[in-house]
Parts: sequence; structure tokens; C-alpha cells
Amino acid sequence: MSLDPPPVNVERVVNELEQLAAISDCPEPPPAVTRVVFTETDLRARAFLRGLYEQAGLTVRVDPIGNTFARWEGSEPVLPAVGSGSHTDAIPHSGIYDGTVGVLGALEAIRVLKQAGCRPRRSIEVVMFTSEEPTRFGMGCTGSRLMSGAITPDALADMRDSDGDTYDTVRQQAGFSGSLADVALPGDYYHAFVELHIEQGPELEAASLDIGVVTAIAAPAAFEFAIIGEGGHAGAVLMPSRRDALNAAAEMTLAIERLAKESRSPDLVATVGRLDVHPGAVNSIPSRVAFSLDIRDIDGQNRDAVAAEIQEALAAIADRRGVQLESRELNADPPAQAADSLIAAAESAVAVLGLKHQRMISRAYHDSLFMARIAPTGMIFIPCRGGVSHRPDEFSTPEQISAGVQTLALTLAQLAE
Ligand code: GLV
Ligand code: MN
Ligand code: MN
Repeated sequence: MSLDPPPVNVERVVNELEQLAAISDCPEPPPAVTRVVFTETDLRARAFLRGLYEQAGLTVRVDPIGNTFARWEGSEPVLPAVGSGSHTDAIPHSGIYDGTVGVLGALEAIRVLKQAGCRPRRSIEVVMFTSEEPTRFGMGCTGSRLMSGAITPDALADMRDSDGDTYDTVRQQAGFSGSLADVALPGDYYHAFVELHIEQGPELEAASLDIGVVTAIAAPAAFEFAIIGEGGHAGAVLMPSRRDALNAAAEMTLAIERLAKESRSPDLVATVGRLDVHPGAVNSIPSRVAFSLDIRDIDGQNRDAVAAEIQEALAAIADRRGVQLESRELNADPPAQAADSLIAAAESAVAVLGLKHQRMISRAYHDSLFMARIAPTGMIFIPCRGGVSHRPDEFSTPEQISAGVQTLALTLAQLAE
């Protein structure tokens, strides 16, 4: 197979990214995007993608959780396939490029390889994973978790959204039927898996590089905390007798920030991104607060050690303030390593294209964190402006996207050969 630079039609990709961005529940127009799993909007985005896959002559299969596979059949279709893809769900008030570049970029990579007359031995599949983002059920990567056997079908089915509806109910209402037990893929399904993604950090732009070749993905964990204090009248209950759940939560979030900053690992990050205050009235003392904790590190052991310190500190604050504290671990995943074969394939693509690259870790998590459990896996990063992501001003230039798709196309061509 020749390794000429593939002629990416980047206007087409940008146009499709923009059309996808218009399918959004964000009250603000694009580039602000909100697309939450199993909503009407998610379903419309899926229909849009299916149309593109069909136009490209790919065969589409949807599994019982909604993971979508669009296959370009190789000349030896019985061989394990090469997979590439990412997600199209988008957290509230986020941007156009997170995940979507990896799905539409994989589609474009197939289109340009086809157009160049490439005839791979192995089939190449675009995968759109269901719910990489944790927005609705608190846990990210549910599609790839189930696909890789990292969560049992029962545990997944029982998870609830904020309306109290189970994952299983919601996915069936969205039209995804069949047994969740059928989602797991055998270990020899994929010969290799590679995900194209925006970096979501500042390193590539700062070093004026085109491409990051990912060597490892940091270990994420998520917890839910509930504080139960005592409510009452904001005028009548005097300060010494209060057990204000929100003030306890405030002290707790600051303790989390302090412990994260004091960690021996500069890669340890901890975020409280959601706080629900009950009853949420100006003249009522908060009686209950629920909040989330997202904590990550490349060093999984250090992540666990700091999470344990946080639990201890929060328990001490709760004791001192006379409030009750409940905590629940949602997930605590180990880090993942990219396969040497994938790093080599991506680096040889970069060399052919004359692009500048570096090896790097991914601080964000991705479906590749779980695909690495069942296939040799790698990731290709492109820069994004200012390292900004999970915000409407997230941006990568057409040239950066084009370089990423070219690198992906050549990587896929080698892996499928
Ligand atoms: C993925 O969106 C992450 O939070 O890393
Ligand atoms: Mn994201
Ligand atoms: Mn993403």
C-alpha cells in the first residue's frame, strides 16, 4: 500500500463538525454545544452520522447500548478489524471538537483511503461510543466500559440518572434493545484500535507541534458525596446552633483543593464540578448538599492515596460540624498504556507526512482507556487553541484537523495492511 499523503477534504470535515454542532440542547447557539446521551438530540446526532456513513458506503451496526460501528470491509474480512473512533456526546455548554473530531475524522480517513484506491486486507471500522461523558449517569465511557468488560451488564443497567431512571430503562426508551450482555467484544475482535482527539491541554500548541502520539492515559476516579445537615429559617436560627450543609461542603471542597495541591505528584488533579443545594431557597438554611469529585493522576496508586486522604479529611470536617456525610465511589480506573505497535505506526505516519510531533500522556480520559483492555490501542492528538476544552471556545484549525486526519489515515492504512 502506498504511503502518499492522503488528500483530506477538510472543508467537508469542518462542515460536518458544524452541522453536528447545530444538533444541540445548549440554550446558546454553536459553538456552545450540549448533547447528552439518550436524549432526542443525541438520537438526531446519531441519525445524522448514520446518513454520512451510508453515503460513504459503510455497513452500519448498532449494539444494544447504542455503540455504533460503520465498517469498510477489507479484502480479508475474517481477519480482526482495525477500529477508530470516539464519542459525539457533549457535556453541558461545551464545544464543537471534543470527541467529534475522532468520529468524523475516522470517517474522513476512510473516505480518503477509498478515494486513493487503497484496498486494505483488514476491515476498518468507525466506532461511535455511547456516552463517553459522565453527564447523565455520573460515570464516563459507559459504551466502551461495557464493550471491554470493565463493567458488568447488571451494574450498568442499574445506574440511575438524576430523574431516578435506570440506564436500562433510558436506553430502551431511546430505542436500543437487546441484551447488554451482548455488548462485550471478544479479545480478538480488533487487531488494533486508534483514536484521534483534540489534546484538551496546552502542550502541543506551546511547542508548535502538529501531532501528539499518546503513550499513556491518566487514571480517572469519580465519587459522589452527600452531606446531611439541618435546615431552618434563615432569620430565626442563630449561628451557634446551625448545622449548615453548604458551609460544610464549602470547607470540604477547599480541603480537596489543598490536598490535591499538596500531592507529591504534579499530575494529580481534583475537581468538584457539581454541587446541588437543597432546598435552594434564599431564606432557608441548606439542609442537604450533594457534590461530585473527579480525581485523576498518571500514577494510579497516588490517585488512590490522595482519594483516601480526602475521605479522611471530609469525615473530620463532617464530625466537627455535626453533619452526616455519605460517600460513594462511582469508578476508580487504572491508567492505560498505549501499545508500542500503535506508537510506531503513528510515528511512521507522522514521518511520512513531515509533521512535527512529540510523545505525550493524555490527562483526559477517553474510550481508549477501555479499548486498551481488549486491543492494542493508541491515540493521536492534535493541538487546540490555548489548550481549551469543555468550553464553547474550544478550537482547532482546519489545518490542524487535516494533519490529524492524514496521520490517522496513514496509521489505519498500515494497521489494516
Ligand atoms: C473526558 O471528557 C474527561 O473528562 O477526561
Ligand atoms: Mn469531554
Ligand atoms: Mn472526548
